[in-house]
Amino acid sequence: MEPRKRVLSGIQPTGHIHYGNYFGAVKNWVKLQEDYDCVYCVVDYHAMTMPYNPKKLVENTWDLIFNLLAVGVRPEYLCIQSLIPEHTELCWIMNCFTSYGLLTRMTQFKDKSSQSQEANGEGFVSAGLFDYPVLQAADILIYRADFVPIGKDQEQHLELTRNIAQRFNNQVGKEYFVLPAPLYTEALKVRSTADPERKMSKSLGPKHHINVFEEESRLRKQVRSAVTDTGDTPAGEMSPGVENLFLLLKASGKAEAHDSLMEDYKAGSLQYVSLKEAVADALAEQSNGFRARKAELMANKKEIKEQIRASTVEIRKLAQETVRDVKELTGLLNVRF
Ligand code: TYM
Repeated sequence: MEPRKRVLSGIQPTGHIHYGNYFGAVKNWVKLQEDYDCVYCVVDYHAMTMPYNPKKLVENTWDLIFNLLAVGVRPEYLCIQSLIPEHTELCWIMNCFTSYGLLTRMTQFKDKSSQSQEANGEGFVSAGLFDYPVLQAADILIYRADFVPIGKDQEQHLELTRNIAQRFNNQVGKEYFVLPAPLYTEALKVRSTADPERKMSKSLGPKHHINVFEEESRLRKQVRSAVTDTGDTPAGEMSPGVENLFLLLKASGKAEAHDSLMEDYKAGSLQYVSLKEAVADALAEQSNGFRARKAELMANKKEIKEQIRASTVEIRKLAQETVRDVKELTGLLNVRF
């Protein structure tokens, strides 16, 4: 039998999981567990690249672990990046196989460096933020992952990862790294309901993302106030806000409600309030289930933390093996224990 292919993905512990993360990537993570060997990493080293609070970071890291378990990620596939320091070691080595010119073209750096400059009014942008995509490449390559389930916003980073891997393979004269391929869900990009011109995102503020563990009343309020039509959309085109609501409905598995409301839209008889009601029902049903599951997990906090530390130790063995090979291939010395 062919060995199972490997899937790797990561998520930053910068707050809760929102429906952009969930429909864009994490829902897929859960499904892929059936057919692949998976590594899902809470990337706390990445979260340090923007101004942050150290006490909150450790809290957010554990909170995200519980959140991921509550939506269906298996504990044996979960790890915490900073407990596997080989990620940073490989990142350094990969820096030396990364084109500086390509790194300057990363759009996320441009977006986030202006957000970083505004934060705390300090005008500070860390070198870590600039180097962020190389650490992401190291996360992927260290497990020699075949597939990376991500939202469309991470496409450019994955392209860079492939470029780095290719350059490394050429330089060392061996097809050592697999060139990883993206796995997208249908919900490539979930938009903010408050401003559908922008993607749903934690960094834009509370109005711009819907937490998957949201209480039903607040969730309904957020959906009710979703921007539908600002009058800027050319005639005959669907506005981004309405498109986003249809996307949320479909991604929630409500194909029938989606199709029937779409018929109404095409006939010109759709009431936006009905579309919002259907979306709110669909999201509330999921969020209520997630909250109940999280409450069960929180009752066993200590055991679960131990379980995640143990799975991280197991996953780390794969990372150590890669770093050993890479050091050999690049003329560096390995420590012998
Ligand atoms: P992060 O933490 O911003 O988001 C986690 C995942 O959610 C997806 N996502 C979205 N998908 C659709 N619509 C949206 N509005 C939306 N917002 C977020 C992201 O594409 C991502 O898949 N750099 C990564 C974390 C990372 C990583 C990795 C990912 C670090 N190392 C290695 C994959 C492989 C990030 O900031 O994701």
